[in-house]
Amino acid sequence: MKKYLSINSLIPSFNKKLNIPGDKSLSIRWILLASKALGKSRVFNLLESEDVMNAIISMRKLGVKIIKKKKYYEVNGVGLNGFEHKDNIIINAGNSGTFARLLCGALAGDVKNVKIVGDNSLSKRDFSRVVKPLKLFGINIKTRRDKLPVIVKGSKYLRPIYYKEEKGSAQVKSAILLASLSAPGQTVIKTKPSRTHTEIMIKNCLKIPIKLKKNKSFDIIKINGQQHFKGFDYEIPGDISSAAFFIVLTILANKSRLIIKNVNFNKSRVGIFEILKKMKAKIKVSNLRNYRGERLADILVKSSKNLKGIKCPRSLNTKSIDEFLIIFLACAKAKGVSEFTGIKELRQKESDRLKIAAKFLKSIGIKVDEKFDSLKIYGNPDISLKKTIIVKNFLKDHRVFMMSCVAALTLGGCFKIYDKSSINSSFPNFLVLLKKLGAKIK
Ligand code: S3P
Repeated sequence: MKKYLSINSLIPSFNKKLNIPGDKSLSIRWILLASKALGKSRVFNLLESEDVMNAIISMRKLGVKIIKKKKYYEVNGVGLNGFEHKDNIIINAGNSGTFARLLCGALAGDVKNVKIVGDNSLSKRDFSRVVKPLKLFGINIKTRRDKLPVIVKGSKYLRPIYYKEEKGSAQVKSAILLASLSAPGQTVIKTKPSRTHTEIMIKNCLKIPIKLKKNKSFDIIKINGQQHFKGFDYEIPGDISSAAFFIVLTILANKSRLIIKNVNFNKSRVGIFEILKKMKAKIKVSNLRNYRGERLADILVKSSKNLKGIKCPRSLNTKSIDEFLIIFLACAKAKGVSEFTGIKELRQKESDRLKIAAKFLKSIGIKVDEKFDSLKIYGNPDISLKKTIIVKNFLKDHRVFMMSCVAALTLGGCFKIYDKSSINSSFPNFLVLLKKLGAKIK
C-alpha cells in the first residue's frame, strides 16, 4: 500500500452544507465526568476518533462499564472515587494529551497505582505542568523526567488547594478541577483564560456549585469538593477545531461557499473566527444558541481573494491554540506581513507546530521569520505552486496532515503527504468530507 496520499489538483468550486464530527474536548470531558457520576449517562454524537476511543478503553480498565448503543454511548458511572481495578495497571492514552493529563486529576481519589503511557508524540510532551498542582492535593504522582510514563496513586486524605495557573492551559485547569471533585473543602484556581468546557459541564450538568469570576487577565474558579453527582445525558456539538480546516479551505478555494451547522462556538474557542474576520475573510455566524452553558452556532463562509495580513493580538492566542497551523496557511495567501507573538506553547503540542509550520511555509516558497516565541509570515496572494511538495516527519500530528491537505487543494503543485492514519486521532472522516466537496485525492 502507498505510504502517502497524493493531491495533484485544486478543489473545484463548491456550494455545500456540512456537519462536522463532535468536539474532542467535550467528548473526553463527558467520558471522564460520566464515569465519576452515580448511575447512567448517555451521550449522542460522541466523537468516534482514536483519542476518544482510547479514553473509553481506559475507563473500562478502571472498572467503568461503557456500552455502545445504536445512537448513543451509555456510561454506568461508579461515583466519585469508585474506580475498581488491580494494582499497577497500565493505561495507554495513545496520542491524547488532553485525556492523559485530565486522567491524572481524575485519579485523585483512586488509591491504587495507575501507570499512564502513550505514543511517540505524547511521550515527548511535558507532564510537570499537571504534576506540580496535583502533588499539592496529596496525590502521589511520578514521571520520568517530567514525561511519560506517569504513575499516579491517589489518596483518601486529599486536601483542597489554591493554585495560580499561568500558562493559559485548559488541560492543567481541568486536571485540577477533576481532582478538586474528590478533595474536601474549597479549591481555588486563579487561571489565565483558556477553554471553559470543564467548568461549564460541572456547573450546568453536574449541578455542583462552582463560582466563576472573570478578572482583567485572570479567571477565578472556586469549587467545593466531595459532592456526589448523578449521571447526565448530553449531545456533543461539532468541533470548531475540525471545522477550522473546512473554513480555511473554503476561503482559499475558488468561488465556493460552505455552511457548517451546529458548531461549538464557546467564546473561549472562537479565536479563528476573530482572526479571519480581521483578515477580511467572508465569514458569518448565525443561529447562536445556548446548550447547557455552551454556545452553539451555524457558520457561513465564502471564498475571498482579498485577505489581509494580521498582527494577531496575544489575547487571541489561547482562543485559537489548535487552529494556528491552518490560520498560518491563510496568512500565507494574504496580502502583507502577519505577525504572531507569545506562541511558544505551539512547541508543546502533538509536534513542535511552530517549527513545522515555518518549515512547511518555506517549502511552499513563503518567507517566514521564526523565533522561539513568535512567527512572522510574509504573505503572497498570488502564490501558485508548480513543484512537488513532500510532507513527512511531523510526528504523525493530525493537524499538520490536515493543514497540508488544505494547502494542496488550494495552492496547486503536486503534494505527497505521509501518515494519513494521523487523522484518526481527531477526525477520521476528514478525507471523506473533502471528497464530498469535490476534492480529488489518491
Ligand atoms: C485542550 C486544551 C488545549 C488544546 C488541546 C485540547 C483541552 O491544550 O491545545 O488540543 O481539551 O483542554 P492546553 O490547554 O494544554 O493548551
